[in-house]
Amino acid sequence: MKIGFYGFGHMATALVTGLLKVGGLCPEECTVLAKSEQTQKKARDMGFAVAESKEALFLQSELIVLALKPSVFRELSPELKALDTKENRVVSLMASVGLDELKDVFSCPVWRIMPTVAISKGRDIVGATAPAGFEDLLSRLEKLGQVQILEEDGLDALTVAASCGPGFAAKMLYSYQKACQELGFSKKQAVAITSAVFSFASSMEGEDPFLTLEEQVATKGGVTEAGNDAMGQDVKNALDRAFDTALKKTRPQK
Ligand SMILES: NC(=O)c1ccc[n+]([C@@H]2O[C@H](COP(=O)([O-])OP(=O)(O)OC[C@H]3O[C@@H](n4cnc5c(N)ncnc54)[C@H](OP(=O)(O)O)[C@@H]3O)[C@@H](O)[C@H]2O)c1
Repeated sequence: MKIGFYGFGHMATALVTGLLKVGGLCPEECTVLAKSEQTQKKARDMGFAVAESKEALFLQSELIVLALKPSVFRELSPELKALDTKENRVVSLMASVGLDELKDVFSCPVWRIMPTVAISKGRDIVGATAPAGFEDLLSRLEKLGQVQILEEDGLDALTVAASCGPGFAAKMLYSYQKACQELGFSKKQAVAITSAVFSFASSMEGEDPFLTLEEQVATKGGVTEAGNDAMGQDVKNALDRAFDTALKKTRPQK
């Protein structure tokens, strides 16, 4: 399958890294179109061809992976609309660009998928719309995690909960690290403590793993309970605001 990556930033690189690990991609079959010399060099170093133009990318590749920022895609839309894409298939990783918008630009089958950066490690939850005509790519993605087929509203919700998730988690972990540093630990020690605490807590299993762990650690009248009481609803309220704001950005037209 000749694959073209339109945009080769964080998400496209994570996807390629995952696919290469599970044998789902041959570098010789891949072409990249990106903006900067630095990214073009990265693609060449990985053994990929670099296209000179969008016309060349669509000619050299059958399946195009759209990994541009939505604002860049919208700027380029009139030029993309003028391309002959009848012989292509287009799969978009972009948040907030719906199937209708894609169908308006391309005269070929289009598919939306919503991976997260965890796809690079093969431990992903990937959202996707109905994959008609893209079963070959679906079977490769299934090697990289759990693929959930969703309506577009569900895909938007998964964008916030799962794709933005590593960024939200990183912000919470960094706050924990800073709080440890303020207790007197060095940065290195604070990072180690934060990683150990969250990695153990997230490894819990069972039907209600996190509530059960809280009950085990925050015992009645103890130090942890006092700390948790002091946090109150602050963490939940902050997450509610983050989810709500991200969802509005994901669904600008609604
Ligand atoms: N990051 C995530 O965790 C994540 C998760 C799920 C979905 N997504 C979606 O993935 C898409 C890309 O996000 P990202 O985080 O990978 O962004 P990014 O790192 O900024 O990558 C964007 C890529 O687009 C390229 N580009 C910009 N203008 C271009 C142009 N005119 N022609 C050709 N290439 C151009 C950039 O080239 P240069 O590298 O040369 O600048 C870069 O490689 C977004 O739509 C986002 O919604 C991201």
